[in-house]
Amino acid sequence: MSSTHRLAIVGTGGIAHLHADELRKHVPDRIELVAAVDPDASRLESFKDKFGVARGYTSIEDLLANEELDLVDLCTPPVLHAPGAIAALEAGVGVVCEKPPALSLEEFDRIAAASAASKGDFAVISQHRFGSAAERVRNMMASGVLGRLAVAKCDTLWFRPEEYFAVDWRGRWESEGGGPTMGHGIHQIDTLLSIVGPWAEVVATAHRHRRTTNTEDVSHAIVTLESGASVVITNSLLSPREVSQIRLDFDTATVELDHLYGYGDDNWTVHPIESAAEEVDRAWAAEPRGRASGHGAQFARIADALDGGAEPPVPLAESRRTLELLAAIYASAFTGTRVRAGEIDPTSPFYQRMNGSGTPWPDLK
Ligand SMILES: NC(=O)c1ccc[n+]([C@@H]2O[C@H](COP(=O)([O-])OP(=O)(O)OC[C@H]3O[C@@H](n4cnc5c(N)ncnc54)[C@H](O)[C@@H]3O)[C@@H](O)[C@H]2O)c1
Repeated sequence: MSSTHRLAIVGTGGIAHLHADELRKHVPDRIELVAAVDPDASRLESFKDKFGVARGYTSIEDLLANEELDLVDLCTPPVLHAPGAIAALEAGVGVVCEKPPALSLEEFDRIAAASAASKGDFAVISQHRFGSAAERVRNMMASGVLGRLAVAKCDTLWFRPEEYFAVDWRGRWESEGGGPTMGHGIHQIDTLLSIVGPWAEVVATAHRHRRTTNTEDVSHAIVTLESGASVVITNSLLSPREVSQIRLDFDTATVELDHLYGYGDDNWTVHPIESAAEEVDRAWAAEPRGRASGHGAQFARIADALDGGAEPPVPLAESRRTLELLAAIYASAFTGTRVRAGEIDPTSPFYQRMNGSGTPWPDLK
């Protein structure tokens, strides 16, 4: 059954403006922005004015005590995701949370336990899963037209100057959870896993080449998937010509995505082998088409799930798989070992925090 779902945005900084804008553009009659929270009074007031939000609060506790809500949308810094999510879930309210969902697997599992005991669900923002082209590639894999995946590449090569890290929560393990692996590459890595399926093991390195941070500014990982295919992943904040890329080499075609912060159909290309060209091109020309990746595309799918009483995307099990891969990349990089899926259990320091047993470089920040 379709109805209007009542949502409040918590944290009215940079990304919250995009959320409010996308809600207005893509789901205006399905999700209503009824309130906002920020301890910074001037940010809160200008956000309320800009988006015509009726009520504002200085804490999530005040919000939950005073509003009837279906969803809390967490746009706070990463360190506040777990406490905010648990408070909302304990009040019986569903949560949409910006990435990364938590600072560690330990925090994530506490959110999952709160969700299991709540009538609300916990969904993580991963907007690049939801463009029509990614959906088409998933359909083509399921139909068998692409054959099996052999090898893939997943690069997030971005540039963040020193000034970017002046914001105090950035560049620190205890407030951001990690560098480009956790904070930036997570988009591409999660989108990749939504296409290629579960990972099995990883070997990785991480480096702090340039920035005055405690976290890494570059990481490299070689991942073996459950399917047997292999993937090379690079996450960098030191790359002046910025690009976000995924390359997938299947038996019958290479499929490539080349974009920066979001894609449309035209950012994807397919290069079939000659003997499969007709069949691959026909499948490539099929629906769905025309839907760009972005928060609006994900909010539409969240509204569909809420209408049908289903778990909204991205669901817990899938976002945990991505977070576990990030923890495994750090564990491999900082211990010099191969790390298998399922191996990081509560006895591992990498379960408690992404820097686990410690970085090879000293803290600077
Ligand atoms: N999906 C994406 O493409 C994308 C892009 C950018 C940022 N993000 C994520 O969004 C989150 C926020 O990033 P940002 O760049 O908007 O940060 P920001 O610093 O611009 O905004 C955070 C806001 O939270 C507010 N805040 C602080 N403490 C609070 C509290 N206790 N309760 C409520 N609000 C509080 C701050 O005053 C600030 O207005 C981060 O997790 C980041 O990784 C996602």
